[in-house]
Amino acid sequence: MKTLIIGASGLVGYHLLQTTKSRGWDVTGTYHNYQLPELSPLETIQEQKVRSLIFQIQPEIIFLPAFLSNVNYCETNSEESHLINVEGSLNVIKASKEIGAKLVFYSSDYVFDGQSGPYKETDLVNPICVYGKQKLEVENLITKLLDDYLLLRITVVYGYELQGKNFVTRLIKSLQNKEIVKVPMDQIGSPTLVNDIAEASCRLVETKQQGLFHVAGVDVISRYDFALKVADVFNLDCQYVIPIDTPSLHQLAPRPLKAGMICDKLSSTLNWNLKGTIEGLNFYGNDEKF
Ligand SMILES: NC(=O)c1ccc[n+]([C@@H]2O[C@H](COP(=O)([O-])OP(=O)(O)OC[C@H]3O[C@@H](n4cnc5c(N)ncnc54)[C@H](OP(=O)(O)O)[C@@H]3O)[C@@H](O)[C@H]2O)c1
Repeated sequence: MKTLIIGASGLVGYHLLQTTKSRGWDVTGTYHNYQLPELSPLETIQEQKVRSLIFQIQPEIIFLPAFLSNVNYCETNSEESHLINVEGSLNVIKASKEIGAKLVFYSSDYVFDGQSGPYKETDLVNPICVYGKQKLEVENLITKLLDDYLLLRITVVYGYELQGKNFVTRLIKSLQNKEIVKVPMDQIGSPTLVNDIAEASCRLVETKQQGLFHVAGVDVISRYDFALKVADVFNLDCQYVIPIDTPSLHQLAPRPLKAGMICDKLSSTLNWNLKGTIEGLNFYGNDEKF
C-alpha cells in the first residue's frame, strides 16, 4: 500500500513508520526540524511543496500526525500555531482530495471541555484551549471537504520516542535522577501506548473503515495515579512523585480535567482493545530500544 506519513519524526509518526514498514507497505515519511536520514523534509505551511510531494508519491493513504503538539506553546502563540496546525493541515487536506487519497488525521480528547469524561465519539465537543480549538477546526475541515478519511482522537501517548518528549519518558528520567516531579491528581485521562495507536491505525485502514474513532488505552486514571504506576513498573522511587492540583501548576493553557475516552466503537469494529496501563508500560519497558 503506497503510504505517506507527514510528521514521521514525531512520537506517533515514527511508530506509524515502523508498523507500516513491518507490514510491507511502500512508505515515505517526512520530518520538519528533527532530521532523520530515511525521511524527506516537509513543512506543511508550504502549500506548493505539500502538493508536489503528494502528487509525486501518489499515496493511497496519507497519515497526518504533524501538528504543533505543545499545548502551552499553542496557547501563547495562537497565530503561529493556527498557521501551522490549521492552514498547514488544510494544505494536506486539499492535496489529499485532489489525488483521492484517504487521510488519517490525529485529533485529541482536548476537543472536549473535561466536565464529564470519559467521552465517546457522539459526545458534544467544547474545547477550552487554543490547541483543542485548532484540533476541532481541522476535524471540521476534514469532515466538510473529504469523503474518505479517518479522524482518530488520541490522548496521553507514551512509548519509545527518539525525541524523548512524552510524559512517561521524561518522568522515568527525572525519577532516575531523583528529581521531584509534581503531577496533577485532578487531570483524568486514558494513557495509551503509542505502538497500539500505530497498530489500530493500520487495522482501521486495512479494514477500510471511515470516520471518527476514539483510540485510547482501556484505563481512565489520573495523571498522578499513572505516574505512580510508572514508578512501580520501572522500579523507581515513588516518593519523588508529588501530587498537586492543576491550578497550582500554573499551566499556560487550560486543561480539560475530567477527560479520557471510551473506545467501544473501536473495540467492536476491530474486535480488539488497546492495552491497559500496566500491560502497556511493561511492553514499553521490554521494548528493545528502551
Ligand atoms: N502525544 C500525545 O499525548 C497526544 C495526545 C493527543 C493528540 N496528539 C496528537 O497526535 C499527533 C501526533 O502526536 P505526537 O506526540 O507524535 O507529536 P510530536 O511528537 O510532536 O510530532 C509532531 C510531528 O509533526 C511534525 N511537524 C511539526 N510542525 C510541522 C510543520 N510545520 N510541518 C511539517 N511537520 C511538522 C514534527 O516534525 P519535527 O519533529 O521533525 O519538527 C513531528 O514529526 C499530533 O497531532 C498531536 O497533537 C498527541
